[in-house]
Amino acid sequence: MPLKPLLVSALATLGAASPLYHRAANETFVFTNANGLNFTQMNTTLPNVTIFATGGTIAGSDSSSTATTGYTAGAVGILTLIDAVPSMLDVANVAGVQVSNVASEDVTSDILLSMSKEITRVVCNDPTMAGAVITHGTDTLEESAFFMDATVNCGKPVVIVGAMRPSTVVSADGPFNLLEAVTVAASPKARDRGAMVVMNDRIASAYYPTGKVAIDVANMTAIPRVAILFSYEDMHNDTLYNAIESGAEGIVIAGAGAGGVTTSFNYAIEDAINRLEIPVVQSMRTVNGDVPLSDVSSDTATHIASGYLNPQKSRVLLGLLLAEGKNITEIAEVFALGTDA
Ligand SMILES: *[C@@H]1O[C@H](CO)[C@@H](O)[C@H](O)[C@H]1NC(C)=O
Ligand SMILES: *[C@@H]1O[C@H](CO)[C@@H](O)[C@H](O)[C@H]1NC(C)=O
Ligand SMILES: *[C@@H]1O[C@H](CO)[C@@H](O)[C@H](O)[C@H]1NC(C)=O
Ligand SMILES: *[C@@H]1O[C@H](CO)[C@@H](O)[C@H](O)[C@H]1NC(C)=O
Ligand SMILES: *[C@@H]1O[C@H](CO)[C@@H](O)[C@H](O)[C@H]1NC(C)=O
Ligand SMILES: *[C@@H]1O[C@H](CO)[C@@H](O)[C@H](O)[C@H]1NC(C)=O
Ligand SMILES: *[C@@H]1O[C@H](CO)[C@@H](O)[C@H](O)[C@H]1NC(C)=O
Repeated sequence: MPLKPLLVSALATLGAASPLYHRAANETFVFTNANGLNFTQMNTTLPNVTIFATGGTIAGSDSSSTATTGYTAGAVGILTLIDAVPSMLDVANVAGVQVSNVASEDVTSDILLSMSKEITRVVCNDPTMAGAVITHGTDTLEESAFFMDATVNCGKPVVIVGAMRPSTVVSADGPFNLLEAVTVAASPKARDRGAMVVMNDRIASAYYPTGKVAIDVANMTAIPRVAILFSYEDMHNDTLYNAIESGAEGIVIAGAGAGGVTTSFNYAIEDAINRLEIPVVQSMRTVNGDVPLSDVSSDTATHIASGYLNPQKSRVLLGLLLAEGKNITEIAEVFALGTDA
């Protein structure tokens, strides 16, 4: 057993016969499991949860306790966040893994790909682990949640959590959100529900239920670049060619209404699909809605409608499908699963 000297002294006070190893001290580990995860407490009757920390407002810091803007996101380490919520340890044993410490705009496909593989390795494939929590900035949280929903497919809960106020401010919301996230990740009732977002006493699904996909990232080394282009009156088609020339292997359009673009831009979309073999997904610039295939399809090219997926989720899905090596026809078939006729 990978016991540390600290644990030995903790055991001495608790009685060596007990299966219970309690918390030693602030930011100190008392148990390291076979995958090298460091737990701040080990009560063997409790579920085990790993918290993967990426940064964001929940880890934000400012010298003023009233600063709710202008603070530095992604400044506080995961062990400090865990320390701020002692009641978490009544619910689960927790191990923290610092994946990154950035504002969520700087979370990259590389970070998500390696975190997804790591969750599969140390949570999915370890029968002693109940689930995973990801702390994340709220700005792009839905993109990472969607990525995890598509790529961690073992049935164990993956719970993404953020905060609207930095950790140093009076009445920070992060600690309670984190407690609720760990509670959900530790619960057997949370299994087989895909990735979830937990904030403000609510549990939300990362995915609209129609056309859900499961993608195996085990052999993926990178996610191809996908650009999102915004539709507007007078939209010129050169932005499409510029994006492709800059290295985009797929394009998502935040279309007007149900995926609409100017006539000239639509010709360019068909040129990109047919001549350049670049898949183009037509999504919407409205906050909610649906792009049915019939609103973007034609007889002259394999158009792809996003259905209920907004541009940022469409981008994540298109990148993953390109990483799988799928061609335009195959990509269109996957998007069609979540699309009305
Ligand atoms: C666990 O703690 C050890 C010793 O401090 C450290 O080397 C290791 O990186 C930690 N593991 C994780 C997953 O953070
Ligand atoms: C260990 O967890 C159990 C619940 O599973 C709880 O009843 C017990 O009090 C915990 N022990 C300590 C020392 O916290
Ligand atoms: C939590 O992990 C410990 C150490 O690996 C293990 O003994 C215990 O059974 C786990 N708890 C549960 C509920 O699986
Ligand atoms: C833990 O220790 C750090 C640095 O030593 C300190 O800033 C922090 O307030 C401590 N946390 C608790 C809960 O005592
Ligand atoms: C990943 O690669 C291994 C070894 O080549 C192979 O057995 C496995 O089927 C591959 N998995 C996927 C999802 O392609
Ligand atoms: C793109 O727009 C230009 C005018 O701005 C036009 O000359 C060209 O034919 C368009 N390309 C396609 C493929 O329609
Ligand atoms: C796309 O892939 C499918 C299935 O592998 C194959 O049948 C089809 O010919 C491919 N289409 C193109 C245009 O390469």
